[in-house]
Amino acid sequence: MPLPALVHLEKKFERHIRLFELKKGALEKKIEQQIKLFELKKGAFEKKIEQQIETQKKKIEQKFVTQKKKLEFQLRKLEAKKGIRFDDEVRFIRSWFEKPLAIGAVTPSGKALARIMAGYVDPSVAGPIIELGPGTGPVTEALVAQGVDPARLVLVEFNPHFCRLLRARYPTATVVQGDAYGLRRLLAGLLQQPAAAVVSGLPLFTKPLRTRLRLIHEAFSLMVPGAPFVQFTYAAVSPIPKALERVSREASDRVWSNIPPARVWVYRRD
Ligand SMILES: C[S@@+](CC[C@H](N)C(=O)[O-])C[C@H]1O[C@@H](n2cnc3c(N)ncnc32)[C@H](O)[C@@H]1O
Repeated sequence: MPLPALVHLEKKFERHIRLFELKKGALEKKIEQQIKLFELKKGAFEKKIEQQIETQKKKIEQKFVTQKKKLEFQLRKLEAKKGIRFDDEVRFIRSWFEKPLAIGAVTPSGKALARIMAGYVDPSVAGPIIELGPGTGPVTEALVAQGVDPARLVLVEFNPHFCRLLRARYPTATVVQGDAYGLRRLLAGLLQQPAAAVVSGLPLFTKPLRTRLRLIHEAFSLMVPGAPFVQFTYAAVSPIPKALERVSREASDRVWSNIPPARVWVYRRD
């Protein structure tokens, strides 16, 4: 190739390179702009998604709260209809799992049994009314329902959770956390006058007979003569089997509606 043609070609080639460089720079700028735009949009998009997630979360939470309220309302309605408190049932069962022998029953006493027990207490007789092992308080409730002023109640309960519950439910009652089998020592100095009745939900059969006898004698020593010691049992026989001197005893019919069916025994000492 002649030299001038070669120079011409070279120049043409250089022009093309410069043009290419220029175009490349413009293209790069455009790409950078696109990236920046994308970043901006990405931020806004992310914010939008976050907002949507937050809104959905709130909606789900609200739905959950409404559902919970609805369920609680239905539960309370069912409780009112059946005459039971599921919260108490759950507490009771939990405690039973922890200490089955001390609790002695899987569920709290039913309304019918509690009413029969309370029915042996005469609210017009003066003096405190001692309840042993009130648990979640079904018998306490029956006592109050039949006219016993809660301020007269001395509730002796071993389980601290139940004590807390009883204090909250009956703020004027005296709740004593302790072992009912040491009754006289436990209540020493607490009673201003002899008790009008002792109502017991203790699982007596988990204790030897001599402990049961000591308990009933201690209870009699704290009561006015002839006052009732009311005790329920799931067993077929009396928890105080021996005929005791000067002590009369009577039994209710078996309460078949209770789970498990139970009977109420009442002991009085002249
Ligand atoms: C069978 S549950 C009866 C609860 C309630 N009175 C009812 O009828 O549903 C027995 C209750 O006696 C309480 N208890 C058991 N041994 C006790 C003790 N030595 N002193 C005080 N309370 C006791 C248990 O914690 C439980 O609350």
